[in-house]
Amino acid sequence: MSNLQNIVSQFNIEGRFKSALPFGSGHINDTYLITTSPDDARDYVLQRINHAIFRNVPELISNIVKVTRHLKQRLLCKDADLDWFHVIAMIQTRSGEYFLHDPLGNYWRMYDFVPGSRSYDVVENRELSCEAGRAFGIFHHLTSDMNAGSLFETLPDFHHIGSRLEAFRGKVRTDPAGRVAGVAGEIAFAELRAEEMHAILRLAQQGRIPLRVTHNDTKFNNVLFNTDNRAIAVVDLDTVMPGYLLYDFGDAIRTGANTGAEDEADLSKVQIDLGLFEAYASGYLEITGDFLTREEFDHLAFSAKYMTYLIGLRFLTDHIDGDRYFKTAFPGHNLQRARTQFRLLETMERDFGTMQEIIRSIRI
Ligand SMILES: Nc1ncnc2c1ncn2[C@@H]1O[C@H](COP(=O)(O)OP(=O)(O)O)[C@@H](O)[C@H]1O
Ligand SMILES: [Mg+2]
Repeated sequence: MSNLQNIVSQFNIEGRFKSALPFGSGHINDTYLITTSPDDARDYVLQRINHAIFRNVPELISNIVKVTRHLKQRLLCKDADLDWFHVIAMIQTRSGEYFLHDPLGNYWRMYDFVPGSRSYDVVENRELSCEAGRAFGIFHHLTSDMNAGSLFETLPDFHHIGSRLEAFRGKVRTDPAGRVAGVAGEIAFAELRAEEMHAILRLAQQGRIPLRVTHNDTKFNNVLFNTDNRAIAVVDLDTVMPGYLLYDFGDAIRTGANTGAEDEADLSKVQIDLGLFEAYASGYLEITGDFLTREEFDHLAFSAKYMTYLIGLRFLTDHIDGDRYFKTAFPGHNLQRARTQFRLLETMERDFGTMQEIIRSIRI
């Protein structure tokens, strides 16, 4: 029996194991599509959880169990009217757990494969962008009555500007890889905007935006589409935590409305795509417009700048630190990523008035 077959056999699946194939293009976990026989039996997604990043797997799993349970209950309510939307279901092990800890120390979990679904790595057009906005909107809508405080903060201070700046400034001070002198321009760029970037944290500290259940990885390839290109599910719930909705909205725009890749070397190819921005925002607000608070609504455009800044800052910090956190494919990769984020941010600054106008003009 292969190792994967052995792992699968410890979960409560229907049908018999047929094959395990590497699946998807996620960067964090190892993902396999598990097919079973007979052929009409359902398929599964098996994942080895990256526990170098997620240090407390039981807490992570507990968050996913709580959130998927809640999503399911809400979908069953008649008023939800979302019967085409799928909640990914976790499969239990034969001993009733939602994850398996193998003798090598690896953690594994299994989901139902959402039949007939696919994801995209690139946002090809406005329709797909709008659908992704709807999907993450549904996620926020269905969890909006959940007590966010009941979830574990599995990655503490994940999007906290204060801690990220503190880490950045610490590395600039100690210069562990001797790279500070080579990035004076980027450091100045970051410092010039540091004050402005406290806006969301300040709203939170003043109690002016609510703590909510947030996804924290609102990348486009975490949305599943059906064959009609309708968004039918949100996956990758590892980072589900208490947080601020603006972080999710901003990160979706940062990753989904950039005309270039996240590490595009030719900065002239990088800018905010206002068409994709508008489409995402309109899909998102169609679902969330009636429960979003005024302050949240007013900061949607800003949140895109914020998340772009924050991730750029993290790439720059890691470059200064000698590339210890993000995987790199070549020397200077993190610096290139930081420059791409900062370039994207500059184009958002240039177009900020229009971005705000777009949000205001969407009728909710
Ligand atoms: N339950 C599922 N049904 C169908 N496809 C899935 C399911 N879960 C994950 N996938 C696919 O696998 C890819 C990687 O899974 P994901 O959970 O996003 O891992 P990572 O954390 O590595 O990004 C997703 O982008 C999606 O295409
Ligand atoms: Mg993913």
